[in-house]
Order: sequence, then structure tokens, then C-alpha cells
Amino acid sequence: MSKKNVAVIPGDGIGPEVINATLEVLEKTAPGQFDFTEVAMGGNAIDKYGEPLPDFSLKTCQNAEATLLGAVGGPKWDNQPPEKRPERGLLGVRKGLEVFANIRPAKIFAPLASACPLRKDIAEKGIDFIIVRELTGGIYFGKHEAFKTENGERAARDVMEYSESEIKRIAHVAFKTAMKRRKIVTSIDKANILTSSRLWREIVEEVAKEYPEVKLNHLYVDNASMQLIRVPSEFDVIVTENTFGDILSDEASQIVGSIGMIPSASVGEGNRGLYEPIHGSAPDIAGQDKANPIGTILAGAMMLRYSFNMNKEADKIENAVDEVLKNGLRTGDIYTEGTKLISGSQMKEEIIKALH
Ligand code: IPM
Ligand code: MG
Repeated sequence: MSKKNVAVIPGDGIGPEVINATLEVLEKTAPGQFDFTEVAMGGNAIDKYGEPLPDFSLKTCQNAEATLLGAVGGPKWDNQPPEKRPERGLLGVRKGLEVFANIRPAKIFAPLASACPLRKDIAEKGIDFIIVRELTGGIYFGKHEAFKTENGERAARDVMEYSESEIKRIAHVAFKTAMKRRKIVTSIDKANILTSSRLWREIVEEVAKEYPEVKLNHLYVDNASMQLIRVPSEFDVIVTENTFGDILSDEASQIVGSIGMIPSASVGEGNRGLYEPIHGSAPDIAGQDKANPIGTILAGAMMLRYSFNMNKEADKIENAVDEVLKNGLRTGDIYTEGTKLISGSQMKEEIIKALH
């Protein structure tokens, strides 16, 4: 059997720590089955090659069956011009792989219920939803411009643009996802103000006709941010454009305990995918063995499921994470009184021990 070809982008800050933990877990889960190729992207690529995403880095990812990514960015590169920032490399990989659908699950792990900042009666109703974030369009990919007005004042603009086909394809991903779940789609927009949102809503409604079993709701993004903490149990699948999804998924991560816990899968038309935790590079704790590797390890499990159809192995990893949490072991971000604080590498070791 040929090995599965995986491009690996450790990135910056805590990226390499959480990636190394994940590679070890994957190797222990399915020994000898992966061929990992390390790829430079982000701040480290700027330092080494003068740009955040050299062509050969993108090529390696495009030739791989899946790409696993840690995190990029850090204060060292904050003063770079926009096109030379680590984040541009990340957007370039997403675009270059044509992974337009970013799937971010938000689910409360029973043993972590005490880390949920919401009132007990709200959390107890259960929190288990998925954010389907449009990932390769919208304002992050629109025209960015800094300019001077006629009277010489500094000004800037970023353009938000969506085409019919971009909205259609992400809507299909959301409805298909809902068909395998509780069959509710909430589309989030700002259609009371934005023209792009009005088109978004119109097209999502058209696509909905192909999924008569799915109930479709619409929410304005400001209201949605409130409903997510008021009645999180009512959400099943959320579909939204790039920026709203970026913001709401950080909110969702905190609702379920910690941003360090959430993986994401970005997929396009085929099986090729990009897998990453939703957290950033956390330069403040980099190199201290404090980072929670669970978000990335679970991203590895998503890779097994979505790109390689290795469902048994994915279950194995997810169950191991559950078991470790049940045993009361916690990294700093999810620590609460009465649990045991361990380091990131201890967390990885415990997860490996719990693989069976
Ligand atoms: C995320 C991150 C990125 C994004 C940044 C680092 C560009 O916040 O994956 O959510 O906005 O997509
Ligand atoms: Mg984000």
C-alpha cells in the first residue's frame, strides 16, 4: 500500500509544538502509513526566503493529498507590509488549495462542562454545532487599498465581494452537512445593510429548495453573536461568509471551553483538504511547553476522516482525547480547580497512551 502523502506546515509560535505532537499521534495511530513533507510558510518562510509562501511551498501542498498546518504569525513580523505578512501566506495556501469550505465544529466535551463560561442551565441543554465558514472569498480576498483622499487625508478600503457560484457551493456544503445531523441550517449575514449579504441570502434560499428536509433560518450577524451565548443548543449548522465566520468561530470556541480545543477542516470539491486548529500562534507561550495540542490533534483526526476515509483511526484519536479529559488531565487553557495541570507534551503522551 502506498503511503499517504501529507504536507506539513509547522508555522510559527506554538505551531511547531502542536504539529510535532500531532505527527507523533498520527504515526502511533497508523504506523508507517504517512509520508510527511515539511513545508515552510508564515514568518519562518519570510525569514528564510523573504516571502510568506514561496511557490515551492504551495506546490508541495498542492501535490499532497492533505495539508496539516499549525499556526502562523507573531509580533516579529507585525510591521511587515501587508503582502509580506505571515497571514498572507495562510490565505495563499487556502486559495491555492481551493479549499473554500472551512468546517469548524463547536461541541462541548462532557468532561469540560465546567470550563464553559455560560450559565449551567444554558450549557446543560447541550452544545453541538458546526460552523461552515466560507474561506476563499469576501473581504479577506477583496481589493485592499490605502490611499489619499482629494483633500490629502489618509484613507483605506477593503472590498467585500461574493459571486453566485461562491455562495452556491458553500451553501451546498452546509445543507449536506445538516442532512447528516439535526437538519437545521442557520445562515448568518448582514442583509439589512450589505448588498453582498442580500445576494448571499437570496442564493442560500434557492439552494435550500434542493434540501426540503432541512429547516433554514436566517440571522443577522450581530443578533447571531448574541443568540450563540443565549441559546447555543438551538444551533446545528451555521453557514456564513469568511469574516463573520472568523469572528463567530472564536466566540464559539470560548463557549465550548477553549480555543485550544477546536480543530478545523477546509475542503473543496475533491478529497484534498487543509487541516488546522482554529487558534493562532500564541507567541506569548511559544517554546514553554504550555500549548494545548488537542485542537491540532483533532484536526489530524479530521484529516483521517475527510481526506483518507480512515474513520476507525479517527475515532481512536477522538476517543483517546475524551479519555484523557475524563481522567481530569488539563493543559493551562482548560484547567479548572480539581483537575490536574499538565504540559503540552504530557498531554500528547497521555493521548498516545489512551490510543486503543
Ligand atoms: C483563523 C485565523 C486566520 C483567519 C488569520 C490568522 C488570517 O484567524 O484561521 O481564523 O482569519 O482566517
Ligand atoms: Mg480567526
